Amino acid sequence: MTLPAKDARVNWVISSKNNEEVTSRYDLWAEAYDADLQSYGYRSPGIVAGMVGRYVAKDGSPLLDAGAGTGIMGEVLSVLGYQDITALDISQGMLDVAERKGVYSGLKQAALGEPLDFPSGHFGSVVCVGTLVGGHAPPSSFDELLRITRSGGHIVFTVRTDVYHGGGFKEKQEELEGSGAWRLVESTEPYVSVPGSNQPEGTNMIFVYQVG
Ligand SMILES: C[S@@+](CC[C@H](N)C(=O)[O-])C[C@H]1O[C@@H](n2cnc3c(N)ncnc32)[C@H](O)[C@@H]1O
Repeated sequence: MTLPAKDARVNWVISSKNNEEVTSRYDLWAEAYDADLQSYGYRSPGIVAGMVGRYVAKDGSPLLDAGAGTGIMGEVLSVLGYQDITALDISQGMLDVAERKGVYSGLKQAALGEPLDFPSGHFGSVVCVGTLVGGHAPPSSFDELLRITRSGGHIVFTVRTDVYHGGGFKEKQEELEGSGAWRLVESTEPYVSVPGSNQPEGTNMIFVYQVG
């Protein structure tokens, strides 16, 4: 397997058919990922940072960066003064790049959508950026993220608009709200996350939920 041309990389990972494929594609992309995302004009970490600043107290509670990748979000949160951030990702190659940044207190290779090896209520809040997209983590990921977040904590995430409406996210988010598992605090309109990446329909939305 070889890395496709830069303009084709977002669509290449989004078209992954299973966890094995998405993992091997990100392992291959890992060393070039930061430079590519910077050249695409990646906007989500800055917007998510605004949301985190609105709702997540800097009280030292552990934070989970779910689907942390190379740690772009962790770097921003660290500059903002958030501490004790754990990176979780399915790709060890991406986590290896994240580790070199020195902003995470822990790194865990694991798949969202499967049981997570953290105690219930362990994290004060969770961020999940760029990972709820086609071919990546499924809507059922929220079940474990909710279990490991303390009551009153926040879960802040981006979701691609196409999978929100057509990939079961909208239904899952509403079901969890109906059951009282979480309550919607704020959401954004769709925005273009990677304007320079040549991906079709590449809009995302951000949701902030408070855990019940
Ligand atoms: C577009 S990158 C986003 C990385 C980082 N959050 C950022 O904003 O740059 C998506 C990440 O999700 C990870 N990923 C894909 N499927 C996953 C899953 N089921 N569980 C955990 N991580 C997953 C990939 O390995 C990749 O690092």
